[in-house]
Amino acid sequence: MSQRQLFVTTALPYANGNFHIGHIMEYIQADIWVRFQRMQGHKVDFVGADDTHGAPIMIAAEKAGITPQQFVANIAAGRKPYLDGFHIQFDNWHSTDAPENHDLARQIYRDLRDIPESEGGSLIERRTIDQFFDPEKNMFLPDRFIKGECPKCHAHDQYGDNCEVCGAVYAPTDLINPFSALSGAKPELKSSEHFFFKLSDPRCVAFLEKWTQDGKLQPEVANKVKEWFTVRTNPDGTTSEGLGDWDISRDAPYFGIEIPDAPGKYFYVWLDAPVGYLASLKNLLDKRGENYDAYMANDKLEQYHFIGKDIVTFHTLFWPAMLHFSGRKTPNNVFVHGFLTVNNGEKMSKSRGTGLDPLKYLSLGMNPEWLRYYLATKLNNKNEDIDFNAEDFMLRVNSDLIGKFVNIASRAAGFLTKRFEGKLTQSFGEQGTALLNDIHAAKDSIAQAYDAREYGKAAREIMLQADKVNAYVDQHKPWDLAKDAANNEALHQVCSLLINAFAELSRYLAPVLPSLAQAVESFTGTSMQNWNATGNVASIQPYQHLMQRVTPEQLEALFEPPAVVEEKVTPGGEEIAPTISIDDFAKIDLRIAEIVNCEAVEGSTKLLRLTLDVGEGKTRNVFSGVASMYKPEDLKGKLTVMVANLAPRKMKFGVSEGMVLAASHADDKTDAGIYVLHPWPGAKPGMRIH
Ligand code: 2FM
Ligand code: ZN
Repeated sequence: MSQRQLFVTTALPYANGNFHIGHIMEYIQADIWVRFQRMQGHKVDFVGADDTHGAPIMIAAEKAGITPQQFVANIAAGRKPYLDGFHIQFDNWHSTDAPENHDLARQIYRDLRDIPESEGGSLIERRTIDQFFDPEKNMFLPDRFIKGECPKCHAHDQYGDNCEVCGAVYAPTDLINPFSALSGAKPELKSSEHFFFKLSDPRCVAFLEKWTQDGKLQPEVANKVKEWFTVRTNPDGTTSEGLGDWDISRDAPYFGIEIPDAPGKYFYVWLDAPVGYLASLKNLLDKRGENYDAYMANDKLEQYHFIGKDIVTFHTLFWPAMLHFSGRKTPNNVFVHGFLTVNNGEKMSKSRGTGLDPLKYLSLGMNPEWLRYYLATKLNNKNEDIDFNAEDFMLRVNSDLIGKFVNIASRAAGFLTKRFEGKLTQSFGEQGTALLNDIHAAKDSIAQAYDAREYGKAAREIMLQADKVNAYVDQHKPWDLAKDAANNEALHQVCSLLINAFAELSRYLAPVLPSLAQAVESFTGTSMQNWNATGNVASIQPYQHLMQRVTPEQLEALFEPPAVVEEKVTPGGEEIAPTISIDDFAKIDLRIAEIVNCEAVEGSTKLLRLTLDVGEGKTRNVFSGVASMYKPEDLKGKLTVMVANLAPRKMKFGVSEGMVLAASHADDKTDAGIYVLHPWPGAKPGMRIH
């Protein structure tokens, strides 16, 4: 087979949290495939990146008191222990906020916008839509940040897109008594111009029908996608015919990529996220001194994306359409997997990645290749969910991987080292030769299983061969042969055969167990890099344990809930913010202020308008969200503390020229209240707080 050139990715994880076991499963699935393809002699570039943009990350950063750039950099800094720990070997790890991604996303957009009339015209359209707006935060609210009462079952505190109690799907505007989850304010409907990618255009429909139904996709995926061509569900729960246009813009403030020629408008995170695949590749090629355009122009290049079943729409509709109509290469395929559940538990959702903590697994000294092997035995090429079951895990690792496979080497190596100076004979007798031939003959079908991502099948076939080897061991009993020097030749043959069989099986398992394979390479002196390596083992190094058994104690510890004392204490409902220097603190000018006047704000149940004297010879106007706790007369004439050098902020009711310090619990729902700070007697307006 001629050498193939493959470009492989896994879905880019949101940079709002550490990896959970669901991410690790996907990366292991892809990593096995990549390693297998490399063993076949193919060239593979395997890249990942952090998916950095969007409102949730922007808001999380704001809450943490850092910039979104710092926030995502902190998350990125924590990626390595997971990837190295589980032997996941990306060639590059990048970020969707990197310059390559800004440039590529903007260029793809321009290409879609500027399609000449002769080719059917632009696929980008501007349309004005009404959306909920938070007057206090001064921003349009994403659905997830609008809450209210479910219009169907009247459950309180439900999200803007669907009810977690009765499952109803609706538009945020259908909520009863909606409020902003960010500020608590009542959202207002405000219109804004948005940019749409015209997926309903007949050119897109025709292209996508062909792209998704030409047999490349997994059948269950293709069938699901087919439904979207006939009917779609609108945000308000009604249905319409065919593909809908895709809203690709968001208004400032938004952490994202600014849309060309549209100041204040940003690409919706899902527009630039998959472009991150290309950006990471480009970054890799730049580092290697290779040319990105030339690389992509190679029509032999094959592009594959490993993804979870929840993001199929983005990868089978939006992404191929974006690429195709911007004149770019489309993916050769998208490989979809199901979710991972743990001990029959809940699905490993993105937000609730509980159950099996990958770093805890490693910190308990558990071998990462146990997990790789176990997941491999469960994985196939369907998008079915798979379950991590602790007992099953122990059985597969201890009785199959170690009992059937690793033990082959340990049973034979000692005799060879002690009795034959580690040298192997090349004649294995008739039965031994036949056995070795059998193992060789399984090579192609195991290769096919790997190539088709049927790792469970590959593992079963390998264990079947291991069973044959073990039957041979039981029949020839090297430990009995060793008792009588007259059997030396037979002992030499049997043990040499076993080591050769072991080396071959190790090669078959190398994509799954790269570190073990490396140890076998040193032990036997045979290559584990090349699937078709031939040649027998000539001699071995003294045997060293290749793999320990998993113990029930380890599994117990893995799933033990964290001890209460270890539970993170979050004073006031939030963690202490990252450490700052005294210079950082000095930037904040805190002053004693006298509240010379205080009045209610018409139209707001939250705010009070304070007139503050900080000894400047003039007063300042400051809004403070404490109306639920204080009447104006409670505060009037009192001293308090304010941030005196905060940039003035334009709010709906006027400009706020500073901020009064008040204490509250992070979770508004605790009813713990909000308390204005009050200095001890003796403090005077204008005094600085040091
Ligand atoms: O669903 C997710 O976790 C997304 N961050 C996946 C993005 S995949 C690609 F498009 F970047
Ligand atoms: Zn409901």
